[in-house]
Amino acid sequence: MKQQAWNPGALLAVILLGAVSFTLSDPFISKASKGALATLYCNASLPAGSQVQWTRRGVSGDKRVIVTRQEDGSIVKEIGDLQNRLKIDDRFSIHIERVDSGDLGTYECGGRETSLIVLADPSSHTVSEGESVTLYCGDSAVLAGAGSVRWKQVNGGTDHSILNKHPAGNIVKSVNDPDHRYELRPDSSLYIRKVKSVDAGKYECNGIHVADLKVLTGEWFVFVLLSIFTNI
Ligand SMILES: *[C@@H]1O[C@H](CO)[C@@H](O)[C@H](O)[C@H]1NC(C)=O
Repeated sequence: MKQQAWNPGALLAVILLGAVSFTLSDPFISKASKGALATLYCNASLPAGSQVQWTRRGVSGDKRVIVTRQEDGSIVKEIGDLQNRLKIDDRFSIHIERVDSGDLGTYECGGRETSLIVLADPSSHTVSEGESVTLYCGDSAVLAGAGSVRWKQVNGGTDHSILNKHPAGNIVKSVNDPDHRYELRPDSSLYIRKVKSVDAGKYECNGIHVADLKVLTGEWFVFVLLSIFTNI
């Protein structure tokens, strides 16, 4: 396997590219762990005393109004909130208590958009060498990608980019894959066939740690069998 060496020029290019893609990537991304508090800010430049609404667009594209502030300043919640998890402050920011996956989506207020990503525990997979596995990107990471999909493996502290899908739809593999072991599925999941021991590690979809893969090798079975027999 070819090792990629860092040189200052490449590093600078990555930083510049990062800055460009950051400024181009509207909406803002706000990440909250499941159960935590999330705060979403409205457009601060709106004239006082104007009627304004918060809307949320779910991953499937459905959009609904959450809260309205009338011209007289009164606040009307447009969705059921029996547990009173939504708090609205006098700057018309929304504070969502005990965030759960149902809260994820793209929120908009006065033209300012924020995608709320809800971080949950990564899924764990254990497969034997030679088997296949499907790793799900999941709604939060799909939302974080804003149309692109980036799959990365982190093994022993080193990042290995596997493939990228651009918003236009073209898929670019960055891993050497002569046996076509890696496949991006339409739901953004990563399908790996004929798993090898080097596939073990953490997997990130769009920068979010979504899966852990453990690979059982032949030696592992021998080791387990040996330890069972030597203990008896
Ligand atoms: C915020 O509101 C101002 C004033 O209405 C408007 O000009 C601006 O475009 C808004 N910002 C965004 C991100 O829509």
